[in-house]
Amino acid sequence: MKYKINKLIFGLVVGSLCFQAPLWSEDEVDEVRSEPIYINWNENAFGYSPAAKVAMMEAMDRGNRYPRTEGRELVEALAAREEVSSDWILVTPGSGPVLQMAALAYAEEGKNMITVEPGYMQLTRLFEARGGEVKYVPLNDALEHDLPAMQAAIDENTVLIYICQPNNPTGTMVDPVELKAFIESVPEEVLVFVDEAYVEVADGGLERNSMIGVVRSSENVLLSRTFSKVFGMAGLRIGYGVAHPSVLAKLRTFYMGPPDLLSTVAATAALADTAHTDYNRDEYIRVRKIVTDRLDELGMEYADPQATFVFIHTGIDAGELQSMMAARNIIIGRPSPPLTDWARVSIGTEEEMQIFLNAFESILREHGRIGVD
Ligand SMILES: Cc1ncc(COP(=O)(O)O)c(C=O)c1O
Repeated sequence: MKYKINKLIFGLVVGSLCFQAPLWSEDEVDEVRSEPIYINWNENAFGYSPAAKVAMMEAMDRGNRYPRTEGRELVEALAAREEVSSDWILVTPGSGPVLQMAALAYAEEGKNMITVEPGYMQLTRLFEARGGEVKYVPLNDALEHDLPAMQAAIDENTVLIYICQPNNPTGTMVDPVELKAFIESVPEEVLVFVDEAYVEVADGGLERNSMIGVVRSSENVLLSRTFSKVFGMAGLRIGYGVAHPSVLAKLRTFYMGPPDLLSTVAATAALADTAHTDYNRDEYIRVRKIVTDRLDELGMEYADPQATFVFIHTGIDAGELQSMMAARNIIIGRPSPPLTDWARVSIGTEEEMQIFLNAFESILREHGRIGVD
């Protein structure tokens, strides 16, 4: 009886939701779907390597064992990729733990770190929580890292500089030649942390932009990479840090352990499947261009997009826009203070982005941000 009543209530609730007046305009009705479009967390909508799936299935039966040889194989593959010896690599569940270990290892009262605002906050929040001071340097007019201002902010208590290249949430890049010169000018006792989560999809990719060359020749540069973005493996949680072993030794004090067996073998297989990663990179670049072409048509301002998302000057409060999009089942990125009328939108599939762009155009019209047809 109780079950029947619950079923009835459930039916009524679902029914009433279905009959709610739509919040979207008539011409968008086709685009309303039951599954939300997630373009908020910079996840990869194109999917990950089939070879990684096969590797996980093959490893399934060994789930009773710790990843022993598998862990070593991954470290060796990463060391080969970065052209360093294996004691320069620290593998973690996602790259987030590398950021957190750096905060834990370097933050203390009386010490400070330098980064930009708006920027990616995972390291800085923990640095502050541990009693360190964070000096936030505003981005320049092109929404890029202002290297001279960052240089000027260094003092005798600075222990760390965090640079996200390309930057999250703006997606902008510093010129790699200028960044290299900046890193080399930083005093040796200060750790420079370069987060290259998105660098593969920047113009010129890894080859032109990565700071791995400076890492190899320095004792104070830490680089983080992730399998969550171009590799499309966010749910599998794999990332790593590359640095001189003396830097990694400091981080290891706070090491919470490696990723699990399945993620480990998946990462090794994904590394070898370069055709799939190249495909994902090309899709990101192709769909990103479709988005920026349409933004150009609409006359919208946006930051130079070098990552897997676009940062758009919408002129609408970012929280309000998020809600209006959510009402259309489209989930976009968080507000990025102090740039409160800019929105960060991740690149999804072409179909998803067309739906987003149509909804965005109709919201802009409703708000008088662009002309009514
Ligand atoms: C710049 C940047 N660094 C690091 C991360 C952490 O990602 P993950 O832990 O999945 O590697 C993210 C996640 O979005 C990010 O945007």
